[in-house]
Amino acid sequence: MNDNNSSPIQLLTERVSHARLGLPGPSQDELDTIMRAGMRAPDHAMLRPWRFVVVEGERRDALGEVFKESLRLRGVTDGARLNKALEAPLRAPVVISVLLNFKDHPKVERNEQIGSAAAATYAVSLAANALGFGSIWRTGLYATDPHVISALGGGDEDEVTGFLYIGTREGPSKLTPELDPEDYITHF
Ligand SMILES: Cc1cc2nc3c(=O)[nH]c(=O)nc-3n(C[C@H](O)[C@H](O)[C@H](O)COP(=O)(O)O)c2cc1C
Repeated sequence: MNDNNSSPIQLLTERVSHARLGLPGPSQDELDTIMRAGMRAPDHAMLRPWRFVVVEGERRDALGEVFKESLRLRGVTDGARLNKALEAPLRAPVVISVLLNFKDHPKVERNEQIGSAAAATYAVSLAANALGFGSIWRTGLYATDPHVISALGGGDEDEVTGFLYIGTREGPSKLTPELDPEDYITHF
């Protein structure tokens, strides 16, 4: 669906997630562009309440170990679940963890900063799609687990807004039900 020949409006109105992602992933230049898009997210008081942690190549194994340890710390002993955690980051060539980097501010509450980090996450995913890649936004229990957040360089008040899996789409794009705007829009 979305390829790098799409118009911006097509990109926005036809976007779908892709769970099956293979090589190649974005080059360093493309990653730079993708994260520049993230850094243009709306941001009240210019707090920059987000950080991007790029995990690629063999470092994905290290992230898998962090996920596995996260489960172990929660008392999970089931080998299949632990193995699934270990292999989770291998589902795409690049995983960008977007972290909420919370800043204490008298006027900009946490909710607003979460909004900015979520906007950054979506901008990153749209930019990846605009460059012709597929992506999927994942979180799960790992996103709020202090062990995972700390391993990614986050602090006590931070959290993972999204793990963005990015790579070359494998297989066809899924069909998403067409929504009727009438169901979601009113005029005040
Ligand atoms: C904050 C957030 C967290 C999500 N976490 C997961 C997740 O952990 N696992 C997953 O399969 N999908 C997750 N999703 C949903 C997918 O990213 C995707 O949006 C969903 O599968 C619907 O597909 P679509 O984007 O093509 O409409 C999450 C979405 C958001 C916005």
